[in-house]
Amino acid sequence: MKERVSRPIAVLGGTGPAGRGLALRWARAGETVIIGSRDAARAQQTAEAIRKRAGADAEVSGMENSSACAASDLLVLTVPFEGQAALLKQLKPAIRVGSVLIDATVPLAASVGGRASRTLGVWQGSAAQQAAEVVPKGVSVVAAFQNVSAEVLNGDEDVDGDVIVCSDDPQATQVAMELAAKISRVRAIDGGKLENARIVEQITALLIGLNIRHKGHGGIRITGLPDSAYLTKSQAD
Ligand SMILES: NC(=O)c1ccc[n+]([C@@H]2O[C@H](COP(=O)([O-])OP(=O)(O)OC[C@H]3O[C@@H](n4cnc5c(N)ncnc54)[C@H](OP(=O)(O)O)[C@@H]3O)[C@@H](O)[C@H]2O)c1
Repeated sequence: MKERVSRPIAVLGGTGPAGRGLALRWARAGETVIIGSRDAARAQQTAEAIRKRAGADAEVSGMENSSACAASDLLVLTVPFEGQAALLKQLKPAIRVGSVLIDATVPLAASVGGRASRTLGVWQGSAAQQAAEVVPKGVSVVAAFQNVSAEVLNGDEDVDGDVIVCSDDPQATQVAMELAAKISRVRAIDGGKLENARIVEQITALLIGLNIRHKGHGGIRITGLPDSAYLTKSQAD
């Protein structure tokens, strides 16, 4: 019997490739997922498409982003960098105190018409730290999933990659690590403080460059750490 994370996972911006892919993986793992969107109808259509792929028992619904925030205190943010801060400001009244917000945003230069293989400088240090500055007090921000290709997440193969999880709140780190490890073959690693998100976000730009150069969908694996550093699916279930 799979153990659930006990609360729905609300994926804000879940209509895009990154959010859809994560939602699909969690739905397949037996989690209850809410797709959030600026448009409730688009969220419901995406939820329906994920349900069809994930199987008859999959629990996936769709709603407007603020309703999704009101419906869960476990939030995953998958929107482009250019919309991240403004969306969080708009959602502030709807985000519940005590929520965990897992941010997958990468500040790609493509956001301002530049190359996807370059990043933008963010005053706060990283997109995740920018998010932490905007969310209401009492909300823990975690950075994760920046290095997992949406193309791979939306496929049917196991995901060959590690997810580095960064946060200043150890309990929130643990929650995000368990979510990451729900994805088949993914290993979650505690990456330390939220400020380390700056490095993890940069790796995505490198991966995009490698993917363009070699025509692939690369991820990362961290080798050589003791077994205790990795959280895997068999431990998370
Ligand atoms: N794609 C990948 O392989 C990948 C991998 C790791 C991390 N990421 C990161 O994850 C995030 C999402 O990636 P993606 O490729 O899924 O992005 P995307 O398709 O460009 O956007 C995802 C969703 O965000 C919403 N959105 C778009 N612009 C917005 C705005 N200005 N304000 C509020 N919401 C907006 C849209 O949903 P609605 O219109 O339905 O609201 C859209 O479907 C990005 O920050 C990206 O860097 C992506």
